[in-house]
Amino acid sequence: MKIIESAIEMCGLAKNFSTEGESIGFVPTMGALHNGHISLLRKCRKENDVAVVSIFVNPLQFLKGEDYDKYPRQLALDKKICSAEEVDILFIPQVGSVYQKGFDTFIDQSHYGRFLCGPFRPNHFRGVMTVVAKFFNIVRPDKVYFGQKDYQQYLIVKRMVEDLNFHIEVKMLPTVREEDGLAISSRNIYLGPKQRKIAPVLYQSLMRTKELVAQGVVNVKRLKPEMIRMLACNKGLKVEYVEFANVETLEPVNEVKTQALVAVAVRLGNIRLIDNMIITRG
Ligand code: PAF
Repeated sequence: MKIIESAIEMCGLAKNFSTEGESIGFVPTMGALHNGHISLLRKCRKENDVAVVSIFVNPLQFLKGEDYDKYPRQLALDKKICSAEEVDILFIPQVGSVYQKGFDTFIDQSHYGRFLCGPFRPNHFRGVMTVVAKFFNIVRPDKVYFGQKDYQQYLIVKRMVEDLNFHIEVKMLPTVREEDGLAISSRNIYLGPKQRKIAPVLYQSLMRTKELVAQGVVNVKRLKPEMIRMLACNKGLKVEYVEFANVETLEPVNEVKTQALVAVAVRLGNIRLIDNMIITRG
């Protein structure tokens, strides 16, 4: 496994792979790799000649007061994981080389950021899109891999790829869960024992909704309060949002007609947890 810290070197290598006709798969990450990332790495490894992983905690996507400084960093362990998963290139640039002095260009969208996490994390997706677009130019991937846990991020990147004519296939893989259903996330390590016990309620509330839809309860006016009730009865848990949305546009729906995205965000103390499920009727 090659470890590359310079964007110029990464660009040069990617150009050579393209010239030689080798396909490049890419998994962008912020490190603290877990089983969710590993499922992306494995798929990427399987489907491409060259597998590239980036580890970069992107300051641009954290709001003031969020956990940028505290975000889990475990580079030595991440290197071992990537090497064991037969990643070809681990790209770990420094902040100063990604955002050079005078950096002043950003990518944003007007539609998708209005929904779900957008209003709660202003400019977060602008930071994600900007760094992802830069990395697409540096790594030149043919395929890129994201997890369903960040469904809104996946849709936003997919839209950006279409709008800006990146010739990249954007792939989404299912959320990987702990045995009790908690969606795996790098931030789960912040959970104290009591919070960790409560955290699977996000998944349980999604499963309850799935069950109700299967029983024919499809009106969001009935489904949403039931989910909120299940979540909010846990001490210390504050519901940020529960939304039923169109799977392509993220616009709110009133009824689960054929399919809907059900998305939830809560705060357990200072820790923000998200989860979602695509629920199909019939
Ligand atoms: O999902 C993440 O880890 C980040 O948002 C990403 C895509 C690596 C961009 O910094």
